[in-house]
Amino acid sequence: VAIAEDVVAEIQSLKKQLGATILAHYYQEGEIQELADITGDSLKLAREATKVESPVIVFCGVHFMAETAKMLNPSKKVLLPDMKAGCSLSDSCPADKLHRYQEMLRENGHKFQTVTYINSSAAVKALSDWVVTSGNAEEIIRRVPSEYEILFVPDRHLGRYLSEVTGRQMILWNGSCMVHEIFSVQDLLKLKKQMPAGKTLAHPECPANILEHADFIGGTEAMIKYVGSFKEPVDFLVATEANMMWQLQSRFAQHRYHPVPGITCACNKCPHMALNTLEKLRDCMLHQSPEIIWQPEFDQARKVLEKSLLNPA
Ligand code: 13P
Repeated sequence: VAIAEDVVAEIQSLKKQLGATILAHYYQEGEIQELADITGDSLKLAREATKVESPVIVFCGVHFMAETAKMLNPSKKVLLPDMKAGCSLSDSCPADKLHRYQEMLRENGHKFQTVTYINSSAAVKALSDWVVTSGNAEEIIRRVPSEYEILFVPDRHLGRYLSEVTGRQMILWNGSCMVHEIFSVQDLLKLKKQMPAGKTLAHPECPANILEHADFIGGTEAMIKYVGSFKEPVDFLVATEANMMWQLQSRFAQHRYHPVPGITCACNKCPHMALNTLEKLRDCMLHQSPEIIWQPEFDQARKVLEKSLLNPA
C-alpha cells in the first residue's frame, strides 16, 4: 500500500510538472480510473480529447484510443503507458486485407460505404467512410444513404446487433472482441436463476446468445445511464469487461454488481487494458515515452473521425 501511495504521489507531481491531462477508459483498473482527470467510454474520451488544453495527454486505454486522441488533437503530445496495449478487434482487420476486400466488392458491383468500429487502426479508419463507437453507431448508420450497402468492420457481433436494430443489411467482417466473445451462457443462466429480480447488462460486442438474455444492451456510458435510473438496490449481472464494475460501484454504491463469468475465467478482464499499470503510468510521464507519433495515414483518418464523432447530424 505504501509503495502504491508513493507512485500515486509521483504521478500527481509529474502531472503538474508536465501539464498533463490523464484520460482513462472504464476498462482500466480502478486505481487508474481514480487518478484520471476524465474517465469515459470510447466516444466520450475521443470528444474530451479534443477539448484538452494542457500540452500533454496521457491516455490510459489501448493503442487505438490514444491514436484517436492524437488524431483529434494533433498539437498535443499523447503518451500511452504501454505501447503493446492492443486490441483483438483491431488486430483482426489489417488495412491491406480490408483494402483488398473492398476492391473485390467493388469489382463485383457492390455499391457500399464502409462503417468502421473505432476499435481499429488509423490505416483502417483512413479506408472508411464512417467511424462509429457503441455510443453513436445507430445514429451514424441512419446517416448512411439507403442506396448504399454497408460493409461493417471489424466486429461481427456488434455489426449483427446493429443490423438488427437499424434494419440495415450489412456485409460483416469476421472479427470479435476476445473479452466479450467468451462470456458463458450457462453461467449467466445460473446467475439469473439465483437472482430472478436481477438485471443483466450486456455490451453489444457480445454474441447474440448472450444479448438475448440481457435486460439492457449498450456501451459502457449507456450502462451508467441505465444503472443510474434505479434508485432501490438491484443485483446487476454485468457482461462486459470486469473493471466496469469499479466505475458503477463508485457511482451507484447502493447496488450489487456480479460479473458474468467467462468460459475460462470467473472475472473477465481485457489483457491489453491490464498492461497499463500505475508504475507504467508514472514512467511514461517521467520519460515522455511511449508517445503516439503522427503517421501519414492519420491525415485521412482524422477527416473520417471528425465527420463521424464531432459533427452530429
Ligand atoms: P465503449 O467504450 O464504447 O463502451 O466500448 C468498449 C470497448 O470496446 C473498448 O475497447
